[in-house]
Amino acid sequence: MVYQLIDKLMCEHILEKDEFLMLLNSINHDTSEYLFHKARETSKNHFDTDIYIRGLIEFTNYCKNDCFYCGIRKSNSSCDRYRLSKEEILECCKVGHSLGFRTFVLQGGEDPYYTNSELVDIVSIIRSSYTDCAITLSIGEKTYDEYKELYEAGADRYLLRHETATDEHYRKLHPKSQELSNRKLCLYHLKEIGYQVGTGFMVGSPFQTNENIIEDLLFIKDLDPEMVGIGPFIPHKDTPFAKMPSGTLETTLFLIGILRLMLPNALIPATTALGTIHPKGRELGILAGANVVMPNLSPVNVRKKYTLYDNKICTGEEAAECITCLRNRIGSIGYQIVVDRGDYRS
Ligand code: SAM
Ligand code: FES
Repeated sequence: MVYQLIDKLMCEHILEKDEFLMLLNSINHDTSEYLFHKARETSKNHFDTDIYIRGLIEFTNYCKNDCFYCGIRKSNSSCDRYRLSKEEILECCKVGHSLGFRTFVLQGGEDPYYTNSELVDIVSIIRSSYTDCAITLSIGEKTYDEYKELYEAGADRYLLRHETATDEHYRKLHPKSQELSNRKLCLYHLKEIGYQVGTGFMVGSPFQTNENIIEDLLFIKDLDPEMVGIGPFIPHKDTPFAKMPSGTLETTLFLIGILRLMLPNALIPATTALGTIHPKGRELGILAGANVVMPNLSPVNVRKKYTLYDNKICTGEEAAECITCLRNRIGSIGYQIVVDRGDYRS
């Protein structure tokens, strides 16, 4: 029966709620292997064995938000804060471009220090300096007009995980001032403006139920994003969730497989968080249907300060070392990193 559900998901790209529940209640070695086999087949049909890389530039760890799970939340007084200057961001792009990156992801906390016009300036300079590259932003919730200005300046893509599609669950993960309805609205605005949009959620976040995960899957189906990023929740020692358990490798991989069958041509990363909970996490993510990796291009001296969760990997190496390591790891499982913008193709 479970195998039939996986076949149905592969053909119809969606299941009924009770079918998703049955699937999520049947995660074991055999069902996972069957799902991953189908997910890999789907991924290979669309992308062959190509893996796209995105150069992550974590340009500020200041944040006005206070998400209970996040190591750079504003209430964490132990966090050693930093901001990169425009010149430092451009230097990261320069290093990244020479290493073969054709997508730069500018990510940060929600930091009002960077006004929208300063961000527009940074995006415009990257756009004119690297005409062969995609620019992805991941800087949280903004107004429609701000998103539009950044798009017109040359940003192509935007990552904004919805975190959980269930209001009640959202309220357990965030203070009252942060609202799920606005986060969802932002995602629809971004789509309307023309961005390639990425959403996603943490697997095993505190209080998450399988019913919550099903709502996440249905929300993702409705939004129809070009990218979906999921990774395990990992506790950070200086947050209210310090003592909560991490999300599991097994469930995260299973959900990557489900997402690949739901959205066959989506860009799905094997995340750093996945690589943090298991030494082969990113390789296993690719073997479960992921087709993107996001190595860090931030200057090594700030890497350890962008700590969303404990024990984050790749905080000590130069970008060149990281990409060489990843190229070898990905080669060892029969895939290859390509020099390509890796745009969404419908
Ligand atoms: N400020 C932007 C935003 O809110 O979208 C981007 C930065 S935010 C730190 C990027 C993502 O990190 C979040 O969407 C969240 O899912 C993830 N994250 C934060 N804390 C985490 C944790 N403890 N474990 C795993 N992922 C975490
Ligand atoms: Fe803002 Fe985590 S609380 S980035």
